[in-house]
Amino acid sequence: MARIQITGGRPLEGTVAISGAKNAVLPMLMASLLTEKPCGLSGVPHLKDVTTSMELLAQMGVEISLGEHFRVEMEARELAGDTAPYDLVKTMRASILVLGPLLARQGVARVSLPGGCAIGARPVDLHLKGLKAMGADIHVDSGYIVARAERLRGARVVLDTATVTGTENIMMAATLADGTTVIENAAQEPEVADLAECLISMGASISGHGTNTITIEGRERLGGYDYTVLPDRIEAGTFLVAAAMTGGHVRVVNARSDTLDAVLGKLEEAGAKIETGPDWIELDMAGRRPRAVDITTAPYPGFPTDMQAQFTALNAIAEGTGVVRETVFENRFMHVQELQRLGADMRLEGNAVVIRGVEELTGAPLMATDLRASACLVLAGLVAAGDTVVDRVYHIDRGYENIEEKLRQLGARIQRLAG
Ligand code: UD1
Repeated sequence: MARIQITGGRPLEGTVAISGAKNAVLPMLMASLLTEKPCGLSGVPHLKDVTTSMELLAQMGVEISLGEHFRVEMEARELAGDTAPYDLVKTMRASILVLGPLLARQGVARVSLPGGCAIGARPVDLHLKGLKAMGADIHVDSGYIVARAERLRGARVVLDTATVTGTENIMMAATLADGTTVIENAAQEPEVADLAECLISMGASISGHGTNTITIEGRERLGGYDYTVLPDRIEAGTFLVAAAMTGGHVRVVNARSDTLDAVLGKLEEAGAKIETGPDWIELDMAGRRPRAVDITTAPYPGFPTDMQAQFTALNAIAEGTGVVRETVFENRFMHVQELQRLGADMRLEGNAVVIRGVEELTGAPLMATDLRASACLVLAGLVAAGDTVVDRVYHIDRGYENIEEKLRQLGARIQRLAG
């Protein structure tokens, strides 16, 4: 199994380009199921989750090919399948995003229940509740969600929790429903809004995206799309934290600062100097050690749970004591035990971790447990004395394009070890 080796101690310096947003690309790929017309998506990052999605779509009869610079072309003229099998769903929970489009387009969908997940229970009950409100008949059969509806009807859907993929599933289904759907307490994440823009380019009628009330007027059919996905705010944030931890000076390009307000605010609180332009963000730590910051994760525009692990790593070497509180997912502190193996002083207290910054971490072999946790271990390796080897890096490849190459460009001593 591939591993990543990092020799710590170098401040990051230079410029790095951010890839397209994984969490926007995945629902956009699945949106190709809504139409028989050709769709083309540009700016698609080279990630394991993208390959998994393409495999899933191909199994359903979508003609799918890769163009230059990772443009994906899709055409779902006739659908050959209605099933997202367990094998794929267990490696990528976002496979659930085929449910809404398939049901709306062909009246039936079978998606394996995702099952256990390293970062807590992560149910899909709200996806199902929304689709049921739109008239779908849903039951579970041999581990599969089976959903049927002759034609979905517009409905008022009030989400108990502002679920991101749940909002996306219901929004996609509603584009082909009969009548108007209003999603209340909708997720406001930029990736949800970007998906809405992509659907609008297909002829969908959507308003209120980016706010907590989204209104969709159903159409008889949709056309194709030719769309470029927005940049990945979590990847950008991860590189900025890496720069801050190493006392470096980094510019991320193809990055949108307006999607990172909460993260940039915390980096400034940690002592970083931040400058922004229309499509770039620059962070200068000028060789200083960061100050500890308190973090509480929350749905957008609050502090993103997908940046929690990286700030836990930052606090590990910061001056002072920081408290990181996770309110979105249960059990999302798998990285804490690993950071402790590098010498971090951290104590778990319920849904929070209290971190007393230490002057130095010491390299050690580590095990990645989930996507963002594995990124935080790499960040810790960048500042730990000596060598850190992160095992199970397939987690990282699900969400970061060429992370070691991009970090090397910034001066990090990092390499992938085969086997
Ligand atoms: C998405 C992101 C993920 C991010 C997360 C939160 C994608 C592909 N993934 O995941 O990177 O960490 O948002 O920002 O976009 N919940 C329920 N019932 C449901 C659905 C969710 O109770 O039916 C709860 C979850 O347990 C969790 C909270 O709602 O506590 C938020 O989860 P959700 O927004 O659904 O996360 P994902 O869409 O899976």
